[in-house]
Amino acid sequence: MPKTGEVSASVIKRLPRYYRFLGELMKQGVERISSRELALRMKLTASQIRQDLNCFGGFGQQGYGYHVEGLHEQIGRILGVDKTLDTILIGAGNLGRAIASHINFESRGCRLTGIFDTNERIIGLKVAGLTVMHNDDLEAFCKEHKPGMAVLCIPKANTQKVAEQLVKLGVKAFWNFSHYDLSIDYEDIAVENVHLGDSLLTLTYRVNHMGE
Ligand code: NAI
Repeated sequence: MPKTGEVSASVIKRLPRYYRFLGELMKQGVERISSRELALRMKLTASQIRQDLNCFGGFGQQGYGYHVEGLHEQIGRILGVDKTLDTILIGAGNLGRAIASHINFESRGCRLTGIFDTNERIIGLKVAGLTVMHNDDLEAFCKEHKPGMAVLCIPKANTQKVAEQLVKLGVKAFWNFSHYDLSIDYEDIAVENVHLGDSLLTLTYRVNHMGE
């Protein structure tokens, strides 16, 4: 399998979508699919699909297409859903609580093991089956449980400091919802910045330029 650096960011970005579509096909009882049919459903081109999957050695067979369950499993393995990455969440406010409660971490190769906040009124509350802890306990927790990933749901102004502390404590990946670009500061750390507002703006652009 190629190293992460050898696969383009755009291919990596498309993999979760392949995984999701193939999972849906499995639920519909589809056993095999041609790249043409998959392309039609995903609104991609067949050659794009073949090129993407060739980055990992290709999984199709001439005249057969793709075995849906097999491809789903292999893409899952590439994404790492068969692993268990211990994950903590910082900031148990409205967004943090929604993410902790509604994202299925385990089906995506992660396990939420700790939730932290600094607000005394929130500490001690149960969220997604976990008791919210104070940031003061972060160091001891990380030393004991060694989480590899952190979800950041805290205000922008506090993000850098918390991220620096977590990097020192061994966190290697951030799912970052705070509006602060961490990748600038940490080259060796994997960061996925999520801006729901950007997605909305993309939509408003499309609505406002319809028919041009
Ligand atoms: P909120 O105010 O409900 O929750 C923020 C929580 O973070 C509070 O419980 C607060 O006590 C805690 N907190 C603050 N500093 C902390 C620190 N250093 N360590 C641990 N906990 C800390 O706000 P909400 O609505 O949950 O949003 C959280 C952040 O996410 C905001 O900065 C907001 O701008 C951002 N946001 C980002 C979105 C995105 O698409 N990326 C969407 C919505 C909000």
